[in-house]
Amino acid sequence: MRILVTGGAGFIGSHTCVELLNAGHDIVVIDNLLNSHTESLNRVREITDVSFDFEHANLLDRDKLRIVFAEQNIDAVIHFAGLKAVAESVGKPLYYYHNNLASTIVLCEVMGEYGIKNLVFSSSATVYGQTNQVPIKEETNLVATNPYGRTKLMIEEILRDLYISDNEWSIALLRYFNPVGAHSSGLIGEDPNGIPNNLTPYITQVAVGKLPELKVFGNDYDTIDGTGVRDYIHVVDLAKGHLKALDKVMNNTGVEAYNLGTGKGYSVLEVLSAFERAIGKTIPYKIVDRRHGDVAVSYADPLKAKRELNWEAEKSLDDMCRDAWNWQKNNINGFKEEVIK
Ligand code: UD1
Repeated sequence: MRILVTGGAGFIGSHTCVELLNAGHDIVVIDNLLNSHTESLNRVREITDVSFDFEHANLLDRDKLRIVFAEQNIDAVIHFAGLKAVAESVGKPLYYYHNNLASTIVLCEVMGEYGIKNLVFSSSATVYGQTNQVPIKEETNLVATNPYGRTKLMIEEILRDLYISDNEWSIALLRYFNPVGAHSSGLIGEDPNGIPNNLTPYITQVAVGKLPELKVFGNDYDTIDGTGVRDYIHVVDLAKGHLKALDKVMNNTGVEAYNLGTGKGYSVLEVLSAFERAIGKTIPYKIVDRRHGDVAVSYADPLKAKRELNWEAEKSLDDMCRDAWNWQKNNINGFKEEVIK
């Protein structure tokens, strides 16, 4: 099949491109490179030894998108493209709503024009908001708590309405828990802009000496050691989940949401210890106040994806730490410099 991957140069997108190419699919990547680099796509080519087309374009550019659909024989779309920083979304809500919502609407309109109605959408466990019912099942009430999260939730609702209006659509909404790790080659990985917001790139940047110490956001939660618990999932497991979702949307119609998580939660201090084992040195940290908007515990019930997609996560926390570290130590400044061999 030929798959259009929007946002294919990003962290999850690039790892999914590798799995798609390894499985023998053709891909076309479209990305505006706002938060990513073409170097990640060069690395995808290096890992797979397969070439593919890349369109440097914004999904809001309807004419460009039409050209892609007219020229390429697209069978399905995996839609990653979108803005994703929670704090930034609070400061710039219109920017987030405009980018994430309008681009998805334009994409679906153009897909409809060309009769392509198979879509895998990159949603997030953020749609479960502050729920304290764990493990989290797909039917849990959805309440996003910030503009970024609301864009994910609104897009899910838009896509449900789209299916109601036209039963030929087939859409998988993939709700990611906490994607971490990197490809085992160390050639692609997470490359956040500026100081990382998320835990594991922050830890690896402390370990590599770019940041002085980890700030642990609160140790007074009702958890094993007082620090927040999350369901960390290896990005390669997550990428493989997209291929399973693709099989599903190619063979069914409807809209279905799936949790992509491991079903197991680890605390911040457990993750820190796992990294210390992987790296072989201690990582300085200090406990600071809770971060506004954080929940104590979040982990998936991943059984629906196992049952209906025949997918489950295979990699361990130690695999995630080893691979994240391998990526970070070989790419101290992410994609902005050559790999140090
Ligand atoms: C965060 C976002 C979520 C988004 C997800 C994408 C917030 C409030 N939530 O989820 O909407 O979908 O990223 O990956 O931003 N932690 C520290 N110190 C740090 C960073 C994090 O102690 O420097 C702790 C957090 O308190 C939390 C855990 O580490 O307990 C994981 O944090 P993070 O990686 O930011 O992910 P989430 O908060 O789960």
